[in-house]
Amino acid sequence: MNDILDMTITKAAESRLTVTDFSQLPFGKVFSDHMFIAEYDNCEWGNLQILPYGPIPMSPAISALHYGQAIFEGMKAYRQESGKISVFRGDKNFERFNKSAARMSMPAITKDIFMQGIAALIEIDERWVPAQEGYSLYIRPVMFATDPYLGVRPSDKYTFALLTTPTGPYYSKALKVKIETEFTRADEGGVGFAKTAGNYARSLYPFAEAQKEGFDQLIWTDAVSHEYIEEAGTANLIFVINGKLVTPSVRSTVLDGVTRDTIIMLARKQGLEVEERRVSVKEILDGIETGNVTDAFAAGTAATVTPIGEIGYQGKIYTLTDPSTRTISSGIAKMLNDIRYGIVPDEFGWNWIV
Ligand code: COI
Repeated sequence: MNDILDMTITKAAESRLTVTDFSQLPFGKVFSDHMFIAEYDNCEWGNLQILPYGPIPMSPAISALHYGQAIFEGMKAYRQESGKISVFRGDKNFERFNKSAARMSMPAITKDIFMQGIAALIEIDERWVPAQEGYSLYIRPVMFATDPYLGVRPSDKYTFALLTTPTGPYYSKALKVKIETEFTRADEGGVGFAKTAGNYARSLYPFAEAQKEGFDQLIWTDAVSHEYIEEAGTANLIFVINGKLVTPSVRSTVLDGVTRDTIIMLARKQGLEVEERRVSVKEILDGIETGNVTDAFAAGTAATVTPIGEIGYQGKIYTLTDPSTRTISSGIAKMLNDIRYGIVPDEFGWNWIV
């Protein structure tokens, strides 16, 4: 980080903290008092502001609404035992945000704006960082195209915003997931690796169909053969097969998850073997039946480490081991939390104390 940026700060007249119940924090519904905004125009970012969280006036013609130039990130700030507040691996999210931006023909955000915006917002809304175990302040960077123009071309104007929402884990129980073989989330050469709005929009209909069948989430498969597992849409997927951690390799159809990467590094450091490769549906289903697949979990910033309890495939349910008996994923989840909350030393330098 270099220069200290100028930003205009307008404080909320009254904090909503007093009317917020921190024992009821559904994901993404309660927002802290302030937000950060920057605007891109004439090929540069400017007009940096912290202002009360609330509506942003905009034209109904903005191109994000019509042609989908919209990207986002998800990261978390933790209140550590010492009282310090730490953002976990923010540099990785910054890098991925700009990879998404490049693919969607959007301008890069500068590291100074991204990081100083987060630091300033957390400083002003410091009391919104929950102290309960398993809770954190979820940070949602977002960028969208704001040209009021209906021609199809990259917008000239953009808004970058940072929202924060105190939250617990996205999922509160082991997941029942369906292996999706009719619809696809992403295809080679597409935008599956980018955190762009359309990837989530296209998943909603298949997800709703699976919910009607009693599933909590989908496991997406490759668009060509539907024989290989990719990711869960809200998280990456990791399996334990014959004692090794096995996860679908990152490719143009799979998000390069920060939690996934963190778990791989922690597992390797512990001496666990990790394989990043193509993972077939058959390998997983056969492995559940033979007992070789002993653990499966979703890994993501919002999802954290969430066990998968059951997998549905073409009308049949495959039940995995009881999540309470799984030592590998629960050990990794604990190690990860201990680092984030500052309970054990942060050997990798992942915590950014703001
Ligand atoms: C995150 O884990 O931060 C995500 O962006 C997933 C979200 C779609 C719930």
